[in-house]
Amino acid sequence: MPTAVITGASSGIGAALAVELAARGWTLALGARRVERLEEVARAAREAGGQAHALALDVTDPASIESFWRGAEARIGEIDALISNAGHATLGPLVECSDAELAADVTVNLLSHLWMAKRALAKMIERHRGDLVFVGSDVAVRPKPELATYTACKAGLEALARSLAMETHDFGIRTLVARLGATATEFGADLSDARRGAAVGLWQRWGLHLTLDLVAVQRAAKAIADALAIPASEGGIVLFELLPTPTPR
Ligand SMILES: NC(=O)c1ccc[n+]([C@@H]2O[C@H](COP(=O)([O-])OP(=O)(O)OC[C@H]3O[C@@H](n4cnc5c(N)ncnc54)[C@H](OP(=O)(O)O)[C@@H]3O)[C@@H](O)[C@H]2O)c1
Repeated sequence: MPTAVITGASSGIGAALAVELAARGWTLALGARRVERLEEVARAAREAGGQAHALALDVTDPASIESFWRGAEARIGEIDALISNAGHATLGPLVECSDAELAADVTVNLLSHLWMAKRALAKMIERHRGDLVFVGSDVAVRPKPELATYTACKAGLEALARSLAMETHDFGIRTLVARLGATATEFGADLSDARRGAAVGLWQRWGLHLTLDLVAVQRAAKAIADALAIPASEGGIVLFELLPTPTPR
């Protein structure tokens, strides 16, 4: 049975993907900071038919990454796929973001993917196989104001994926980017209505907020699982985009 590590599996896309892959027979190590939520997701994944273990992980802390990874390998063995999904966005004009917020956003949305991929690749290169999956965003190609740091990180994530795909091609490693549009999750749930309203107004003014619809989280999870099911024997890169379908209003 294939094995995967999923970061940010305590809610949203990571949690839905855990259940989707478990239903397809995967064995999973799930990481996030909210361990109780993670335990619930692991239980749902086992009920769906796979194996799943919940392990504490803060992707912004290299020591936590190392201890998570050791725990994952001890429980599920060699890792076939890394699904690097954890993310967070601070919304607002750059001048109003504190230096600490900027550093935190870059760490979770870009640096952590480098740390996780580096840790995964060491063993994948030895084995001459493996999948690196990065959960990206359509802001990578349609940048949004008041999301400057997040936008820059998601654009950087795609560049990082392309670079790694070439660097690891000769080792049979495949890199996959899921470029998702607005998806129905808890993402941004910590934002005030006023903050969100101001940003959406600006996005509409620049023609960037074309629909109020959202991608269903199970649809996003299924798309990622389907992409992972493509035979990976020749390595390379797969990039797909999944956007909401506007309904007539
Ligand atoms: N929802 C959208 O509209 C949308 C669109 C495009 C792309 N995405 C991307 O999809 C990914 C998942 O987001 P989501 O929409 O599913 O939102 P979500 O429900 O808020 O999930 C975010 C996940 O990231 C985890 N996380 C955040 N900081 C972390 C940290 N320091 N260490 C470990 N885990 C951390 C959270 O877990 P804990 O808080 O428990 O640590 C949570 O499990 C993100 O990369 C996001 O950029 C989302």
